[in-house]
Amino acid sequence: MRDEAPEGAPRLGDMPPEEFRRYAHEAVDWVADFLANVETYPVFPSVRPGDVTSRIPPTPPASPEPMDALLDDFRSIIVPGMNHWNHPAFFGYFSVSASGPGIIGELLASALNVNAMVWRSAPAAAELEDVATDWLRQLLGLPDGFEGVINDTASSSTMYALAAAREATWPEAHAKGLFGLAPGRVYASEHAHSSVEKGVLTIGLGQDGYRTIETDETFAMNPVALENAIADDVRAGLRPCAIVATLGTTSTASMDPIGPIVEIARRHDVWLHVDGAYGGPAAMLPEAAPWFAGWEQADSIVVNPHKWLFTPIDCSVLFCRRPDVLRQAFSIVPEYLRSSEQAESRSLMDYGVSLGRRFRALKLWFVMRYFGQEGLVERLRDHLSMASSFADAVRAEDGWEVMAPVDLGLVTFRCTLGETPEDQDRINHEIMDAVNASGQAFLIHTVLNGRVVLRLAIGNINTTQSHVMATWALLKKIANDFR
Ligand SMILES: Cc1ncc(COP(=O)(O)O)c(C=O)c1O
Repeated sequence: MRDEAPEGAPRLGDMPPEEFRRYAHEAVDWVADFLANVETYPVFPSVRPGDVTSRIPPTPPASPEPMDALLDDFRSIIVPGMNHWNHPAFFGYFSVSASGPGIIGELLASALNVNAMVWRSAPAAAELEDVATDWLRQLLGLPDGFEGVINDTASSSTMYALAAAREATWPEAHAKGLFGLAPGRVYASEHAHSSVEKGVLTIGLGQDGYRTIETDETFAMNPVALENAIADDVRAGLRPCAIVATLGTTSTASMDPIGPIVEIARRHDVWLHVDGAYGGPAAMLPEAAPWFAGWEQADSIVVNPHKWLFTPIDCSVLFCRRPDVLRQAFSIVPEYLRSSEQAESRSLMDYGVSLGRRFRALKLWFVMRYFGQEGLVERLRDHLSMASSFADAVRAEDGWEVMAPVDLGLVTFRCTLGETPEDQDRINHEIMDAVNASGQAFLIHTVLNGRVVLRLAIGNINTTQSHVMATWALLKKIANDFR
């Protein structure tokens, strides 16, 4: 610790330890109260764009500010401007949770503040990333040929997988780029996440390099259409580069038929990437095994513990069965990052674009240990059962319908009141806006077969049947105004 600064001189160095202890305790107390009372907060805030900014000075402070003022503003400006993803009635997007052990892991990782780019830069963090991703691999029932790395998001993980696919398809492009080569194609279902198309653009195949494949009545990829698309493209002189199959699509959580897709990928010698960003954790459930049969033959798989595995954002695990190809795509080792341990350890910087990486493995390791396999499985199963009873309730109600199979924790449904399809779309939007404005629950919509559909995504660790049914009662009450 620094000596006391002479009178009048600015004090340098960090916050003194005793001050840190006092405010960190205060912050942790706030977190504990927040988690205990999160239901007393409106899920969605009553703010408009610009409201939060208007309450913050437009310029930074010239002189130090007391920590009390910072925490006061956090409580009075920031928290009331939040959409509370940790609220058990948050059913929007894919509902996620920062669980207690995950939050503690995040706090400790930020105190250590290591940069785990190579073993030497953070030995325990580099090793724990191997261990934690390997534990997750085992929980998911994947064979031990898969090597895992943790990225910030599934968008990055998928982009890296596609870069590996490009490397495998055109090894010569590593030196010369794609110029002069036959145009390549990546295939994914019309319900694949937008991150797939972004990845295709980023690896340089252009929008024409992305071909979407039609889906069946369950919104799952039609493998016959995939086979035909690839055969057409090959005849036309294009080069298939990768297939992306989604297990748990964003709009409806549909599951692409992985078995037939694997066969097509092998027959055409095309890289197969599985987007299990949301649905992947369901592989822990023995009853879900049929959906995943064959995914172990994929070349790469992304699963996001920050979606449906109670780990605070960000934490996306990319598993790769051909890690040498992934490394070949990204490994550049400048002199200043060489070390004598390189040969006997993994350099995580070799698996993607970013050099620096946060110590994300700690929170994932904490989550897996604290809940254990049984605890995780029981919680996921509970989510599936709540989704299925919500869907049953919707099906049983006059004036409402369920729009897609309910395989995971997501229910897509709509109110059928209204004279015309356009009226129905408007009414569904109005119902959703009213639910969100109530602060009691939060939902988003999607469009299926041209019609507006509401989504209720169950994934929060504290969601119970009573939250789901209270939201259903609210939906019905609001809809009654349109009868
Ligand atoms: C199926 C699927 N894949 C990928 C993503 C992108 O995830 P991330 O936000 O981690 O990039 C999402 C986001 O919801 C998703 O639903």
